[in-house]
Order: sequence, then structure tokens, then C-alpha cells
Amino acid sequence: MERFLIAPSILSADFARLGEDTQKVLNAGANVIHFDVMDNHYVPNLTMGPMFCQGLRNYGITAPIDVHLMVSPVDELITAFAKSGANNISIHPDATRHLDRSIQLIKDHGCTAGIVLNPAVPLDCLEYIIDKIDLILIMGVNPGFGGQSFIPYMLKKIAQTRALINQSGREIRLEVDGGVKVDNIAEIAKAGADMFVAGSAIFGHPNYHEVIDAMRRQLAT
Ligand code: DX5
Ligand code: ZN
Repeated sequence: MERFLIAPSILSADFARLGEDTQKVLNAGANVIHFDVMDNHYVPNLTMGPMFCQGLRNYGITAPIDVHLMVSPVDELITAFAKSGANNISIHPDATRHLDRSIQLIKDHGCTAGIVLNPAVPLDCLEYIIDKIDLILIMGVNPGFGGQSFIPYMLKKIAQTRALINQSGREIRLEVDGGVKVDNIAEIAKAGADMFVAGSAIFGHPNYHEVIDAMRRQLAT
């Protein structure tokens, strides 16, 4: 698998030109599209449903779509997103009553499955489920909004998660989401992350190519 993946969060894209802006960021070298789904219930914000995902597919976006569900309950939207073109679906363990069942539902629909941990959520909920998942997403901020600052103590959590992944012997992606910028991506990678979500840092830059290249140069250090 490719060593480092850059996944722009289209939460910070131009919603009036979503297809065009998504294609533009892919042309600039992004590997994956990160798709933030918020329900004004699990998090205090409201974004995009499955129709947007299908809309991107209809527009011609063929890149992998990484759906981050910040919704509760999750199961109905897992099914809807799987049918609308998602490749990976990640869920928060505290947003579903039956985590194993929800993870199984993601797999049954042919998607890869991820678990997302908010800053204060401990790693122990991974203990029994780690053999079933393909990705762990460590939040660098409290979920709900783009443009927040990375919480520094998450570096230790990323390192602890990397140790757990190595111990499992499985190929599990370690994604970090929230507050990732050119100037901290290298230390986040050194802590053990190999997939980086960035919203405001990429879409807030006038030249997507330049900022993605700058991130890759940092990752090569
Ligand atoms: C936060 C979202 C993030 C967010 C990242 O709830 O899950 O994906 O868009 O945005 P930045 O990179 O601006 O922190
Ligand atoms: Zn996200």
C-alpha cells in the first residue's frame, strides 16, 4: 500500500462548485476524498448526505471516497452511503449502540471500515474490534467544524495507536483528522500516522498543487 495518503476534506471546498473543486484537488495530487457527514445531533453542525456522494460519482469523480460519519444513529446512513459510492466508511464508537454490528454492516456492503476516536475517547475500545477494521482515525480536534487547531496531546495518542496496530500485525491505516497543516504534518507522521485529512489548509490555499506538494515535501523529511 502507498506509504502516505493525503485526503482533503471537502467540508472546506466550495459547496456551490463541489464537483469542480473536488476534481481540482485530485488533479493537484490528492489521493482520497474525505467526506464529512454531520447531523446536528452527534455534532453541532449539518453538512452533506448520501446524495452529495452520489452526485460526485455522477459528476465523474472516480477517486476513493472516505466517508466520516459524525451522526447518530449510524446504521441507516452506512447503507445509504455504501450504495452512493463510498469506499471507506468510518464511525464513532460512541455514536452506535452495537459497534460490532455496525462494523459488520459496513463490511457486508463491500466497504472498508474505520473507527474514529474523539480526543478524549480512550484506545481500549479497539481491543476486541481491531481484527475487524481497516482504518483507525484519530481526531486531532473535537469534531464538528473545520479550521480548528490540532490538540498537541494527540501526538501521544497517535503513537500509542501505531503501537497497537503494529502489535496486531494487520494492515490498518492510521488516519489523522483535524488541524493538519504543512507545519505540523511531519511530526504527526513521525508519531505514526500514514493518512492525513486536511480541509482548511488545502482549500484555504490559493494553489492546491503548491500546498499538497509542500505537505509531501514535509512527509519526505
Ligand atoms: C471535523 C472534520 C474534519 C475537518 C478538518 O469534524 O471531521 O475533517 O473538516 O478540517 P481542518 O483540516 O480545517 O481542521
Ligand atoms: Zn473528518
